[in-house]
Amino acid sequence: MSAGTATARTATASANSNIALIKYWGKTDDLLHLPTTSSLSLTLDETWTTTTVSFDGGADGQDVVTINGVGVEGTARERVHRFLSLVRERAGLGQDEAASVVSTSTVPLAAGLASSAAGFAALAGAASRAAGLDLDARALSCLARRGSGSASRSVFGGLVRWNRGTDDASSFAEPVPCALDLAMVVIALDAGAKAVSSTVAMRHTMRTSPLYPAWVEASAADLAEALEAAASGDLERLGAVAQANALGMHATMVAARPAVLYWRPGTVAVLHEVERLRRDGLPVWATMDAGPNVKVLTDTAHAGAAAEALAGLLPGASVTVRRGGEGIRYEQPGS
Ligand code: PMV
Repeated sequence: MSAGTATARTATASANSNIALIKYWGKTDDLLHLPTTSSLSLTLDETWTTTTVSFDGGADGQDVVTINGVGVEGTARERVHRFLSLVRERAGLGQDEAASVVSTSTVPLAAGLASSAAGFAALAGAASRAAGLDLDARALSCLARRGSGSASRSVFGGLVRWNRGTDDASSFAEPVPCALDLAMVVIALDAGAKAVSSTVAMRHTMRTSPLYPAWVEASAADLAEALEAAASGDLERLGAVAQANALGMHATMVAARPAVLYWRPGTVAVLHEVERLRRDGLPVWATMDAGPNVKVLTDTAHAGAAAEALAGLLPGASVTVRRGGEGIRYEQPGS
């Protein structure tokens, strides 16, 4: 192998996580990760995963994955392996060309804090470049989606819509206009791994919840309203529809048989406090994903006051302020 080829076979990419304001919950195609609804998210700052992929033969000819210095095994490794196999196929590499994947993440894994969004966006960027693929942002978003649906949105910064599409090429994310300086106060009650993965929970909800079709139907109007509110700078309208859409998603899960209940007592305490703060004049609205944590949508002018008010509520919970962040970026080899 020439020195030039060896260099091209390693690449490093970083991506931030994102939090949906209008949620993705359910797939029409489990293999392609085509969602039942289009969704809208804010890419966050300072919540990144940086991943280096090297097609270097891996360990004993197998793909090897290390996250935060710890070797990854089981289903998590299998998921990365499947993703790398897809990249090898696209790039015309042999399936025996195993890779080493080394990842550093500031996002707690599998805790409803969107670790898979940042993780698979960074992996898509690093693996595709290391394999010699030159993808534009849209194609990269489609590829990231194959790792984890929400990862399609982390390719871009700021406010991002994921168009549900009808096939592999038409289900991609893209940035949308936002006249607001949005912020999120992230209240992490419990950074432990979640009891039920989002993949399993969304499939179960689709199959068994009588409320699911109503949520899907409402979602299209929610998205149109959120897009309009963001473009026109109407935080109140955006916050109200985002909170309604997220709580509606959780209602579908609570009505599933048996129920998927991610909520903890602390979750309910934060939700009530958010209502109280809003009655007192702070522009704050809650959203939640596949876990007990609550993220509070506001703007940067009010994020400090909101964080301060929420910090004292639950001993042991961490409260952090995040603003809008940038999309995927790459490190030059050797830098
Ligand atoms: O991409 P996944 O499988 O991690 O699913 C994420 C689903 C939610 O976080 C609950 C909602 C969303 O749109 O991000």
